[in-house]
Amino acid sequence: MTTVAFIGSGKIGGTVARLSVAAGHQVMLSNSRGPETLKDFVAELGPLAGAAAGAEAAAAADIVVVAIPVRAYRDLPAGALAGKLVIDTGNYYTQRDGHIAELDGGSLTSSAFLQQQLPGATVVKAFNNIYYKHLQSLARPAGAADRTFLPIAGDDAAAKSAVTTFLDSIGYGAVDGGSLADSWRQEPGAPAYGAPYGPFSDESGIPAGEDKIRAALAQATR
Ligand SMILES: NC(=O)c1ccc[n+]([C@@H]2O[C@H](COP(=O)([O-])OP(=O)(O)OC[C@H]3O[C@@H](n4cnc5c(N)ncnc54)[C@H](OP(=O)(O)O)[C@@H]3O)[C@@H](O)[C@H]2O)c1
Repeated sequence: MTTVAFIGSGKIGGTVARLSVAAGHQVMLSNSRGPETLKDFVAELGPLAGAAAGAEAAAAADIVVVAIPVRAYRDLPAGALAGKLVIDTGNYYTQRDGHIAELDGGSLTSSAFLQQQLPGATVVKAFNNIYYKHLQSLARPAGAADRTFLPIAGDDAAAKSAVTTFLDSIGYGAVDGGSLADSWRQEPGAPAYGAPYGPFSDESGIPAGEDKIRAALAQATR
């Protein structure tokens, strides 16, 4: 069993938490308003779930999922996340996040920016390219003919391997999309972003196999 902490327990964090509990992992949720506001969600998830303040939630975790707007990355508890494997689900949208000077040039990916904010952690990007309803509905056990794959990106091979194992446990295959610097290939606007899993209007989504995701990453241009 893995303990997975969530900094941000909204649409994407909450969905990864649901899949984690379904796979038998322990989850510790957190958000910006405090653990008492997560009481109902914890009750819904059952005995494998708890809630705490962000730094406390992260303390006991094997994996910390960061699922907050990119504008809040500078507020993360960097000390508490030192030594942790951090999964970055984020996407930089100026309409929501405002302007972050480091990202506006386009040369720094949002996950590389997160890694800069968390120098003691090891960041792997995952889950950012799939609509949360598709993530919920497309999970399949290993070996299923219609298993869906997600791109991951990171600078540390051991961390990517751990994330691949975690994804496998919750119903997804992983395609290695390269380093954090390469992760623009799965950012908004790239062929691997959203489209492989079908339109938002179809909430059940369309399974996307390994070859489809590999091809989408390879087609990215900038
Ligand atoms: N929605 C999707 O389908 C989807 C898919 C893939 C990736 N993403 C990306 O994932 C990230 C989160 O998106 P979302 O749709 O899950 O957003 P959301 O539903 O609005 O949830 C955001 C969560 O982050 C928390 N939060 C915000 N600021 C925080 C802070 N400073 N410290 C701690 N927690 C904070 C919120 O807590 P409170 O509610 O207490 O403020 C909430 O739990 C975004 O970068 C988004 O682009 C989203």
